[in-house]
Order: sequence, then C-alpha cells, then structure tokens
Amino acid sequence: MFKGAETMSPGVERLAVRQAVPSPAKLDALAQDILALKRKLNAVILAHNYQVAEIQDVADIVGDSLGLAQYAARTDADVIVFCGVHFMAETAKILNPGKLVVLPDRDAGCSLEESCPAEKLAALQATNPNFYTVTYINCSAAVKALSDVICTSGNAVKIVNHAPKDRDLLFVPDENLGGWVQEQTGRPMTLWKGNCYVHVEWTHAAITRIRQQYPDAPIVAHPECPKAVRMLADEVCSTEKMVTWCRATAARSIIIATEAGMLHRLRRECPDKIFIPAPTDRCACNECRFMKLNTLEKLHDCMVNLAPRIELPPEILQRARRPIERMLEISALPQ
Ligand code: 13P
Ligand code: SF4
Repeated sequence: MFKGAETMSPGVERLAVRQAVPSPAKLDALAQDILALKRKLNAVILAHNYQVAEIQDVADIVGDSLGLAQYAARTDADVIVFCGVHFMAETAKILNPGKLVVLPDRDAGCSLEESCPAEKLAALQATNPNFYTVTYINCSAAVKALSDVICTSGNAVKIVNHAPKDRDLLFVPDENLGGWVQEQTGRPMTLWKGNCYVHVEWTHAAITRIRQQYPDAPIVAHPECPKAVRMLADEVCSTEKMVTWCRATAARSIIIATEAGMLHRLRRECPDKIFIPAPTDRCACNECRFMKLNTLEKLHDCMVNLAPRIELPPEILQRARRPIERMLEISALPQ
C-alpha cells in the first residue's frame, strides 16, 4: 500500500514547485481584475490556508477544509472558485451539484487522495461487513461515495465519538490523523496506510533542535504529523484551530509544524506574534507542491475561462453527498 514519502522518488518530486511570482504591479492588476470578475459572475472565492499569500488576499474566505466545506454548503453565489486542491473543490461540487465549481489548476492533487483508490477501499470493506468507514475529506469523490461519514482534521475526534459503538471502525486514508484520533477517543480503528508527504517530513530530531533554540516557544502541529512529532507538540490541531489557539496563547513566539502557507494566515490574524516555521531534516520541503500549483494568474484565467470545471458522474455525486452531510450535521451538534 502507498507509503507516501517513502515511495516518492527523491529530489525533485519532494520539492514544492513554487512558480515565478509576477511583479507587484502585475499582481495588483490581476487582483483588481479578479475582484471585477467576481462581481460580474456572482462568484465566491474560497481559499485554503495553504494557498499563496496573493490568493489568500483576494479570497472571500480563507479557512481549513471544514470551514470551507461549511461555507460551500450555504453559499448563494452562482460560481464557486475553489483555491485549494482537487478533493476540496469536488466536495464543494457535491454540496452544490447545480453550481459551477472551478479551480485554478486541475492537477492540484493530494498524496493522501492518491494513496486510496476506490477499488482498493471497496476490496478492504468487503472483508468485514461490520466495518463503519470514517473517511478523511482528503480523498476522491469515489472514495467518499463508499464511506459512512466524512471527517476533517477539525472534527475527526467528534465524528469518531459519534460513530456507532457496535461497528468496527475503519479510518481512511491518513494513518497519522487516524492514530491521533485513536489516542484522543480510545476507540480502536483499522487504519489505512496513507500519509501526507509534506507532514511526514517533520521528525522528532528536527523538532527537538528547534525547541532547544526557542525554549519558550510552544509548538503547534497538524495531526497529519507523525506520532513522534505530535508527542513534542503543545497543541495538535487543524489549521483553523491553529489561528484560535495562537490568538489565545500568551506566548509571543510560536513554532508551527504545518504547510508554509499557514504562516501568512497566522501573521495576518496575529500581527503581534512571531511565527517560526518548524524545520524538517532534509530540505525546505514544508510547501505542498499540489497547493502551490495554484497561482494568482491561474486563478484569473480560470475565472475568465470558467475552467477547469469540476464534473462528476451523477451517481457519485449523489452517493458522496450523504456522508458529507452527516459530517456537517454532527459538526453542528453541541460538544
Ligand atoms: P485542514 O483540514 O487542517 O485545513 O488540513 C487540510 C490539509 O490538507 C492538511 O494537509
Ligand atoms: Fe494533501 Fe498533504 Fe498537500 Fe494537505 S499538505 S493537500 S494532505 S499533500
């Protein structure tokens, strides 16, 4: 089964592909055009916390997977422009089958999604009819269609706490998030062996070194990080909860172990604090090459061309909707 970082070819594959940034004047002109197009199309621009700063700055909302799915479920815009990765735009389409959903780069994938082909999941599910499949939102629409309920890093603990007690839990596709949820809930789960190729780059040794350098700075890590890293963290949470946690803490400097785009959001929300990107051992690979495929130019072009569009087979659209709605319902429940 897919082993994320281990199976990726070394070197170039690992590096985030940050494309050449146009001049400030060009960026400003593009941003103005994008805002005009947005009004003309009655469009909404949703951006994930890992998007480049220029995209975050023109978006209507910047957030985590959960916040963006919740926003997509209630928007009355005619066009949803999703600046994130493909599975996030697909989720918006599943919640809005009648709307036009576009994303700047069709190739913006995810190593977790790649790790879990629908046929392999179906084969595993067939081995135990008592499985209840809890699926991390980082997966294809076809995998969502095979799931009982979807979760994000922001609500995974709550979703698992609400799972039927008489069922055997199967958690796919992130073994690290699944391991963390297991620790938090005490519910044993069968874990799919997928991982995020970015978050597995953080190691116990690298985090220990940065902690020695900044002994007063708490460490905040995403639950996609390996257990050895999560154990060193003062807080393990989704990207949106990082914003709330960093706002509330009395600490002035905070070490952040997640994708680099998060630093722009945090610096904007907490201008009085200092954010230190946690180093990895091997290279500056804390940028997700998929997230970084989106640029302001491609965002502009996708609004001009209304493409690439998200299109899904009707039966997948229909079957994938219920597990997402179940997630949104459970998320809205009081703790
Ligand atoms: P969040 O749900 O915390 O935004 O994380 C999404 C993701 O892709 C993490 O790598
Ligand atoms: Fe997928 Fe990891 Fe990129 Fe998030 S950071 S989109 S989990 S590859």
